Amino acid sequence: MSQPTFWLRCEKKEFERRAALTPTTAKKLIDVGFNIFVERDEQRIFDDEEYEKVGCKLVENNTWPSAPKDIPIIGLKELPESDEPLPHTHIQFAHCYKKQAGWSKVLARFHRGGGTLYDLEFLTDATGRRVAAFGYHAGYAGAAAGALALAARKKGETLGLLKPYINEEAMVSAVRSALGGSGKGVKALVIGALGRCGRGAVDLFRKIGLDEDDIYKWDLAETAKGGPFSEILEVDIFVNCIYLSSQIPSFITRETISAAGNDRRLSVVVDVSCDTTNPFNPIPIYDINTTFREPTVAVDGLGSAAPPLSVISIDHLPTLLPREASEQFSSDLLPSLLEFPGRETARVWTEAETLFQGKLGEAVKAEGL
Ligand SMILES: NC(=O)c1ccc[n+]([C@@H]2O[C@H](COP(=O)([O-])OP(=O)(O)OC[C@H]3O[C@@H](n4cnc5c(N)ncnc54)[C@H](O)[C@@H]3O)[C@@H](O)[C@H]2O)c1
Repeated sequence: MSQPTFWLRCEKKEFERRAALTPTTAKKLIDVGFNIFVERDEQRIFDDEEYEKVGCKLVENNTWPSAPKDIPIIGLKELPESDEPLPHTHIQFAHCYKKQAGWSKVLARFHRGGGTLYDLEFLTDATGRRVAAFGYHAGYAGAAAGALALAARKKGETLGLLKPYINEEAMVSAVRSALGGSGKGVKALVIGALGRCGRGAVDLFRKIGLDEDDIYKWDLAETAKGGPFSEILEVDIFVNCIYLSSQIPSFITRETISAAGNDRRLSVVVDVSCDTTNPFNPIPIYDINTTFREPTVAVDGLGSAAPPLSVISIDHLPTLLPREASEQFSSDLLPSLLEFPGRETARVWTEAETLFQGKLGEAVKAEGL
């Protein structure tokens, strides 16, 4: 049997410094006999040498299209738009299974090239839970962005460009310093606090110095009474981290915010869940996703006398903590990667392939191929 191999490709998406395969995970694969090629990539948070040191073979940036067809290509985010056929097996987030813009064109490339897509978002364990997800660091980074927006507001400013931090410590220290040394005195409410994102948000608030009693942690039990919730208006930062699976009453509305007038403490809403265009979005006070360049959007329609309120709705928050987010994701992915050589029988991979074949069929129809 030929040696099991992965080819880690470079990332081309702006600001994306994360990697699906870290030097730590690559070493564990090499230790059990895998061969790992790694494209040189200055954008990646891990230096090329970190991979070389653990035994990976470095190859030139963006050369995966000419890699032997039987080597699976692993990446993180979607490939740049193109019509080029894709003959390889790709393991990555492709964002094309939920009929996102351009979904059928992406899948048509696999149809034309004969390649296979294993979408990282749909690798699940026997209970249907994702084997690897970035939630914890999304919540952590979202809470940090919220605290930075609050600090900016206190100075009468608007939060500017956010850039990835070299590590968690650098992020915590930047947030603390923006808040004058500590977040003590700030009040925050996290909804979905028992989930991956929610736990990350709560941990960040602890690390920047909020008192435990000032971090309100809500999950299903606390929202069972049904919104809107006046408690949200009584904290400085509200972080939404729920997994929305059905229609629920709104958590806050423009009306409840307006009615509070000047009595409102709430200054920043961080919608980590980012169900921005979902008709059941429980935070119907904004309608765009914000970006690292412009992290906040002002809530309009509150009346001229109302204090300002900003929303952060960035849908790729873990990018702000590329090193730790990659390490956690990659280590959660490792058991599945170890099973990849047996992908014709290993459940996690057979189910992902069945899903791919179904979506491919829909795309072939949609594209009239
Ligand atoms: N913005 C980003 O960059 C980013 C990154 C990763 C994940 N996400 C999104 O964040 C969301 C949460 O992801 P996760 O991995 O933390 O999910 P999760 O399943 O681990 O946690 C969700 C939590 O929400 C709770 N919940 C669900 N409905 C609720 C309700 N009505 N009231 C109160 N609590 C409720 C659940 O009990 C659970 O504890 C998802 O929508 C995910 O797509 C966003």
